[in-house]
Amino acid sequence: SWTPAAFVDTTVQELKNKLGDDKVVLGLSGGVDSTVAAILLNKAIGENLYCIFVNNGLLRKNEFDSVLDQYKGMGLNVKGVDASAHFLKALSGKSDPEEKRKAIGNAFIEIFDQEAHLVEGVHWLAQGTIYPDVIESVSVNGPSVTIKSHHNVGGLPDFMKLKVVEPLRMLFKDEVRRIGKEMGIASELLGRHPFPGPGLAIRILGDITAEKVRILQEVDAIFINGLRKWDLYDKVWQAGAILLPVNSVGVMGDERTYEKVVALRAVESTDGMTADWVNLPYEFLQETSNHIINRVKGVNRVVYDISSKPPATIEWE
Ligand code: XMP
Repeated sequence: SWTPAAFVDTTVQELKNKLGDDKVVLGLSGGVDSTVAAILLNKAIGENLYCIFVNNGLLRKNEFDSVLDQYKGMGLNVKGVDASAHFLKALSGKSDPEEKRKAIGNAFIEIFDQEAHLVEGVHWLAQGTIYPDVIESVSVNGPSVTIKSHHNVGGLPDFMKLKVVEPLRMLFKDEVRRIGKEMGIASELLGRHPFPGPGLAIRILGDITAEKVRILQEVDAIFINGLRKWDLYDKVWQAGAILLPVNSVGVMGDERTYEKVVALRAVESTDGMTADWVNLPYEFLQETSNHIINRVKGVNRVVYDISSKPPATIEWE
């Protein structure tokens, strides 16, 4: 019968046989799938696995540094590449959701290709593809960064000519988590909420600026840390904040303000296909709203999204 321990043993042996002394590149996202794939490959081939973790500047507050530290702590051969400025430039002036996704996908391919070229004599590209990604021609995650639809001029980027190894392609998400646990990956990492590839870019409605990213990172951190503090984080499937492209009038002291509105979103779901908004305690919402408005310069109003999917979606873009 299937057990995580048996899967790990068999898969590590298979990877050893298949890869021998070959070099492999893998893009880490901070998510469960790519992390578990990396740890399995690390067990099989060690330093011949070259992990690349790209900071697109659209991650949660402090996420790049803290996740990079965790990866290093797990013994992975990982290179952190801070490409924030490159992504911000690629997004400049774009406000259409699909255009933003495309710009991010293309920027990722450019950066990853550059980095993969630095690994001399590499033969393989490893991916954290899981079974639902394989069977759904359109990913359950909606229009995610599908590499193939975004390369255009000049043919395939070189890394896409590599042979592909996908050790998780027969597994469901809960099995991936069990394997991660079996291999000693921290439960904090395994239990993280899903986070979209384009990151905060699709939670800043309209065009993206460094200042808007900073504001949303602050708001999001207060919300997510609050969920943890109130022991609500694990009761929610996914949560985040959205920066709306409207200003509203407020008052501070004797002064009239005219500042940004943020929406908070927390949903229950099993696969992201349908979702219900979470009935968060009023006391929690009250504290969170106060913290956000008192601490984040540029925000004077907080609203809570009470829409279900369908007909709304989880993300606003
Ligand atoms: P929606 O907004 O379609 O989201 O209800 C369903 C799930 O998919 C995630 N999502 C994305 N993930 N790239 C991703 O990798 C994307 O472009 C993208 N758009 C939505 C969303 O966060 C939710 O978990």
